[in-house]
Amino acid sequence: MSEYIIEGGNRLYGECGVQGAKNSALPILAATLLCEGKSDIYNCPELLDVDATANILMHLGCVVSRSGHRVTVCADSASGTEIPEPLMREMRSSVIFLGAILARNKRVRLSTPGGCEIGLRPIDLHLDAMRKLGAVVSEEYGNIECTAPDGLKGATVSLSFPSVGATENIIIAASTAKGTTTVINAAREPEISDLADFLNGCGAKISGAGQGTVVIEGVKRLNGSSHSVITDRIAAATYMAAAAATGGNVRLVNIIPAHIGPMIDLFEEAGCKIRTDCRSVNIEAPKLLKSVKMIRTMPYPGFPTDIQAPIGAMLTKAKGTSVIIETIFENRFKYIGELIRFGAKIRADGRMAVIEGVPVLHGARVRTTDLRGGAALIVAGLASEGETVITDIKHIERGYESPEKTLAALSGKIRRIDNDGSEKSD
Ligand code: UD1
Repeated sequence: MSEYIIEGGNRLYGECGVQGAKNSALPILAATLLCEGKSDIYNCPELLDVDATANILMHLGCVVSRSGHRVTVCADSASGTEIPEPLMREMRSSVIFLGAILARNKRVRLSTPGGCEIGLRPIDLHLDAMRKLGAVVSEEYGNIECTAPDGLKGATVSLSFPSVGATENIIIAASTAKGTTTVINAAREPEISDLADFLNGCGAKISGAGQGTVVIEGVKRLNGSSHSVITDRIAAATYMAAAAATGGNVRLVNIIPAHIGPMIDLFEEAGCKIRTDCRSVNIEAPKLLKSVKMIRTMPYPGFPTDIQAPIGAMLTKAKGTSVIIETIFENRFKYIGELIRFGAKIRADGRMAVIEGVPVLHGARVRTTDLRGGAALIVAGLASEGETVITDIKHIERGYESPEKTLAALSGKIRRIDNDGSEKSD
């Protein structure tokens, strides 16, 4: 299995760009299924989850081609209505195809995505929403089937929780439904606005994306268009956490500072100096970080659950005690067991973690438990004295494009070793 080898204890400094957002690219690629003609999606990160999404599109009959960060999809001959279990298992977010396949082909069959490393992750809100739009939903033996023989019809859908995936599924499905759909208590994450921007560019009529109420006026057809995916705010904040944990001074360019707004206060509370301009952020960390009072993960514009683990790793060397409360997913502290191997002092109880800063971390051999937990291990490895080996890095590669290259550009000493012992180079 491939591994990252980190020579820790070096301050990160310098400047680099940040990848396109995984959580934007996936729903946008799913939405191309509704478009006539070709869609060109630019700034698509090269990730395992994007590969899995492309595999599903091809299985459904789309022609997909990739050239670097551009993915081109033509769905004109896509008549597939089913995603087989192995493809669903490759990526839990495959449920994002539910609304697109149903809207296009009036029928969809998927296996239940089931729980994953970070929690149970039910999809009841997605299914209830499809029912509201007129679909008949049946669930049995781990399979879900939705049919809408007369097509989907606009409706008011009120979400009991602002689920990101459910909001995206509704927006996609309602884009070509008959009539108007209103989503109340919609998720407000920037990736929702990015999806709506893509669909509007294809001829959809979506307003209010990024706010609590989204209105989608169904249109008869969507035409493929070109779209550039926004920068990944979670990847940006992960590299900021790595910079902070090493006492570094880093400038990230080509980002959207407003999207990392909910995290900036925390870096400042930890003693970092943050400067932003319209497309970049500079983080200058003190030699010794300060602990923070309490972090509570919340839907956007609250503190993102996806950055909780890298920030947890950053705080292991801060002076004092920090507390994290995870409110979104029930099982997002698995990485803590691995951080303890570095000498970190952390206790987790249910949804709360208490971190007592230690003066030094020591390099360790650790195993990645999940995507963001894996990013936390990279942060800890960079901040530790000596060598760290991180195994099971496929989890990390689901969401971070070549982190070893980005960090090398910031003078981080990290190498990726392939199964056969060779170093990855391209
Ligand atoms: C998306 C992101 C993920 C991020 C999460 C929260 C993608 C591909 N993934 O995941 O990185 O961590 O948003 O910001 O964009 N829930 C239900 N029933 C449902 C749907 C969700 O109970 O039908 C619960 C989930 O179990 C979870 C919470 O709601 O506890 C948030 O889930 P949701 O916002 O839907 O996250 P995802 O779209 O799965």
